[in-house]
Amino acid sequence: MTGVVVARAPAKVNVHLGVGPLRDDGFHELHTVYLAVSLFDTVSARPGEGLSLTVSGEGTGVAAGPGLVPGDRTNLVWRAAELLAEHAGVAADAALDVAKSIPVAAGLAGGSADAAAALVALDALWGTRASREDLLGLAARLGSDVPFSLVGGAALGTGRGEQVTPVLARSRSHWVLGIAGEGLSTPAVYGELDRMRAAGALPAAAGPSPADPVIAALRAGEAAPLAAALTNDLQPPALTLRPDLRRALRAATDAGALAALVSGSGPTVAALAPDETAAVRLAAELAGVGVFRTVRAVSGPVPGARLVP
Ligand code: C5P
Repeated sequence: MTGVVVARAPAKVNVHLGVGPLRDDGFHELHTVYLAVSLFDTVSARPGEGLSLTVSGEGTGVAAGPGLVPGDRTNLVWRAAELLAEHAGVAADAALDVAKSIPVAAGLAGGSADAAAALVALDALWGTRASREDLLGLAARLGSDVPFSLVGGAALGTGRGEQVTPVLARSRSHWVLGIAGEGLSTPAVYGELDRMRAAGALPAAAGPSPADPVIAALRAGEAAPLAAALTNDLQPPALTLRPDLRRALRAATDAGALAALVSGSGPTVAALAPDETAAVRLAAELAGVGVFRTVRAVSGPVPGARLVP
């Protein structure tokens, strides 16, 4: 057995999130474009007897609501370890630590990042040498966003989001992530979307809206067309559940963002800046307006889950 193995994985923003109707399996058909951004959780794995898990870091700092990170077998990291051990036919022996920078229940795929980093770290610790395809298959069983957390970069997600195809992003885009208030539960936001569509408050969708405009904007590599193409079907239900997010979105555009949208199921607001300097300035301004609990300037695309040398 080796010593400690460390892997890290990035947060994501959905720059397009087109949601189709509810499927029989309880998931929604998606056309989404994921962008991995420069905010990372780190998973350390060392030899151990059985599994143990500790969680630390600023990303855990949500006092109430669906934000607490479990340190037991209900944590996605624990399930990732059990799944990889079963797949490889090895004993699930490891002491795991998750250092969280990605805020919890924020719509940034922090839990998915942890699971992806755990797969990469444990594959190395246990010498299981799982193929890329096998890891992607295990990732899809853990959650819809976990395959993307492995792949990173910029990618189109179809199915329930677990089928990922890389897309070209010609240049880095610069963002400010603002987290306001308590976390939101992903199933609750999807449920509110279904309710709003059934009640006629939103148009019914025969299928997910196509991602082509955002894919073209990423390929062109300029911020202005990307700002015009940003789409999130989960934003209206997130705003219904958290009306204060309207003010947060307005604060971002008032402070000079080209556009701002709710990230995934929220409540993180992702504000697109014209360039890196503007992003740093925007972050400073948004930190001062009293709307956001946490503000981070990030950029993407960045790689997916990787070992840290
Ligand atoms: O796949 P994951 O465990 O992240 O999904 C969490 C929940 O989000 C699902 O149980 C479902 O309620 C909702 N979901 C959905 N459609 C998707 C992805 C997630 O309805 N494509």
